[in-house]
Amino acid sequence: MKAAVCTAYGGPAAVRIVDVPDPKPAAGEVLVRIRATTVSSGDARIRGARFPAGFALPARLALGVRGPRKRILGTELAGVVEAIGADVTRYQPGDRVFAFPGIGMGCHAELKTVREDGALAPIPEGLSFEEAAAISFGGATALHFLRKVAAVQRGERVLINGASGAVGSAAVQLARHFGTQVTAVCSSANADLVRSLGAEYVIDYQTADFCAQGAKWDVILDTVGNTSLARCRPALAANGRLLLLAGSLGQVLAAPVQSLVSGLKVSGGPAPERAEDVRALAKLCADGVYRPVIDSRYPLERIAEAHARADSGRKVGSVVVTIP
Ligand SMILES: NC(=O)c1ccc[n+]([C@@H]2O[C@H](COP(=O)([O-])OP(=O)(O)OC[C@H]3O[C@@H](n4cnc5c(N)ncnc54)[C@H](OP(=O)(O)O)[C@@H]3O)[C@@H](O)[C@H]2O)c1
Repeated sequence: MKAAVCTAYGGPAAVRIVDVPDPKPAAGEVLVRIRATTVSSGDARIRGARFPAGFALPARLALGVRGPRKRILGTELAGVVEAIGADVTRYQPGDRVFAFPGIGMGCHAELKTVREDGALAPIPEGLSFEEAAAISFGGATALHFLRKVAAVQRGERVLINGASGAVGSAAVQLARHFGTQVTAVCSSANADLVRSLGAEYVIDYQTADFCAQGAKWDVILDTVGNTSLARCRPALAANGRLLLLAGSLGQVLAAPVQSLVSGLKVSGGPAPERAEDVRALAKLCADGVYRPVIDSRYPLERIAEAHARADSGRKVGSVVVTIP
C-alpha cells in the first residue's frame, strides 16, 4: 500500500509517499481502506518536533529521538471495512467507519487495522468520508476536557481560546450542546463561523485581551497555549476551571499544586482516545449537534502541503487528506 512516512523530524518535506507492506487484521481487528484522514496539529507537532516548552526531551524519549518511531503519522481516519479478523462480530466488509487511533498513529496510509472494540464507530448518516475523518481529534479532545475534566454544567459560562481551530470549533459546538453560554476567542475573520457554531459572544484576540474584560467565566479552555493561571485568575469565577490543552511541562506539573493553593481547578496533559467518546461523537453528529469544520482538502500525494497548512497555526477546523 501507499503511505506517507516520516523517518526524521523536519519540515513538511520530511514526509514522503512510499510503498509499504499491507497490514493484515489479527483476531478482533478490522482492516479499513482509508478514504480520508487529517493532518492534525498533533501530526504537525510530532513531524516538526515542536513540543510545548519542557516536553522536548520526554516527547523525544517517548516518540523517537531523531524521528518518529511510528513512521506513518495520522491520528484519525474514515473509510470502508476491507476485511475482518477472526472473532469480529460488529463489523463486516463494506461498512463505512471512522476511527481515532490517536497517538497510535498510522492513518496516513491506504490501509490500517483497528481493534473492533477500540475507538471505532460507523460513520453517521449524512456525513462524508472527509467530514467523518475530522470528527475525532478535535471532538474527543473537547469532549474529554469539557465533560470529564471540567464537568461543565448547564447555565455555566465557558470561554474557548482558539475557538476556530480543530479543537476549538468542536469545543464551541459541544459546550453549547451542554447548555453553557459560550464566549469564543478568535480573530475577526472567524467571528461569523464561531457564532454559527454556537458562540454567544466573540472576542477578537487581535484587539482585546479576554482576561482584562472585567468578565468572569466558570471554565476557560485554552487551545492556544498563551495563558496561565496568573493571567486568567481575574477572569475565573469562584468555582473556575482552567484547561491548559497546550500547556508547558511546568504548567502541567504545577497544576495540582496550583489547584490546591488557589481553590480553582487547573488541568492539562493529553486527552486519551476512548471508544466510548468516539461512539458518543458519532451520536452527536447523527443528532445534528456536532459537525466537524473542514479547513481544506489535499490528496495523499500532496500531504506535504497539508502539513504546511497545519504548521501555519491558522487552520480553521481540520486539514483533510483524501485517498481516492
Ligand atoms: N491536550 C491534548 O490532549 C490536546 C489534544 C489535541 C490538541 N492539543 C493542542 O491544542 C492546540 C490546538 O489544537 P488544534 O488542532 O485545535 O489547533 P489548530 O487547528 O491549528 O488551531 C488553529 C487556530 O488557532 C487560532 N489562533 C491562533 N492564535 C490564536 C490566538 N492568539 N488567540 C486565539 N486563537 C488563535 C487560529 O485562528 P486565527 O487564524 O483566527 O488566528 C486557528 O483557527 C495544539 O497546540 C495542540 O497540540 C492538545
